[in-house]
Amino acid sequence: MMVAGHCSLLIGCLLMASAVAFAPSNPRRLSQTVSSQSQLRAAPDDVDFMASLRTRMDEVGDRDTKLPLVVLDSMLPRQVLKISVSNPVFMELIRTRLVEENPCFGMLGMARLQTGEQVHLRSGVEVQIVGKPKVLDDGIKLQLQATRRFRIDGDVENAKEGWTEGRVRFLDSVEEEAKEEETDGIMLARAMSKARKLEPLVDQWIELARESERQPGQIDQLLLDLGDIPDDDEPSERAFWVGALINPIPAMGVALEIRPALLTAQTADQRADIALRGIQNSIQHMNGSKKLF
Ligand SMILES: *[C@@H]1O[C@H](CO)[C@@H](O)[C@H](O)[C@H]1NC(C)=O
Repeated sequence: MMVAGHCSLLIGCLLMASAVAFAPSNPRRLSQTVSSQSQLRAAPDDVDFMASLRTRMDEVGDRDTKLPLVVLDSMLPRQVLKISVSNPVFMELIRTRLVEENPCFGMLGMARLQTGEQVHLRSGVEVQIVGKPKVLDDGIKLQLQATRRFRIDGDVENAKEGWTEGRVRFLDSVEEEAKEEETDGIMLARAMSKARKLEPLVDQWIELARESERQPGQIDQLLLDLGDIPDDDEPSERAFWVGALINPIPAMGVALEIRPALLTAQTADQRADIALRGIQNSIQHMNGSKKLF
């Protein structure tokens, strides 16, 4: 395994080998899951729903911000990942979490430095286990959806059950941007103006991406998973949404990887910048004017 030396602490080493993205074997069942989910998301009280979800999770978070951590892939908020898992430690973790009201754990990815070295990121997302995992002969199949971002605070440790845990600090872009507005309002305004430029590009991107779909309906499903694009006065959220769109998991192969950069960016302006460049490059790649690879 490529990075064994670096990740002896984290069960991610095992997981990278055993958790693979799967294609839906029963599309009908999957679309039912997706449509019931999209009803929730598309409801007029969507915002209230998300807010109450967040509040509930905050209450839990206040009591204990220790999260089991899994190193698999950088995900962005709203992204959906379908995986099958056969690793015994990971399966035990899922079993343990499923008894809770909001079964979730922390998901982290790795990034390649310019030197070529692979490093663990301390910035990740909380993922919720959506619906009931399907039991397979040699494992389970489950659907995860990323919710809040977090950053690992301090050291990670090994839980007695065999997985890795760490204390995390959850990050809320509304709070982050409110702070930025106080310290550097001009920069935040610049982020918002970049965020405004994203919307027409999203329309262009979707049109081009429909022609490069790996499977029919892929883009429609992606849009259902992600919900509506956030407003341009929420530049960070809009940037994360765009990243989630152009960097789905598994990859569509039409854009450079911007998920780790978005997760580790410190300001709304950096995030908007990354999303803007990412989607512009992807459009130029797809329309043939400037190939990325
Ligand atoms: C491709 O997209 C870029 C960026 O939007 C645009 O400037 C260019 O004219 C487009 N080229 C073609 C061939 O459509």
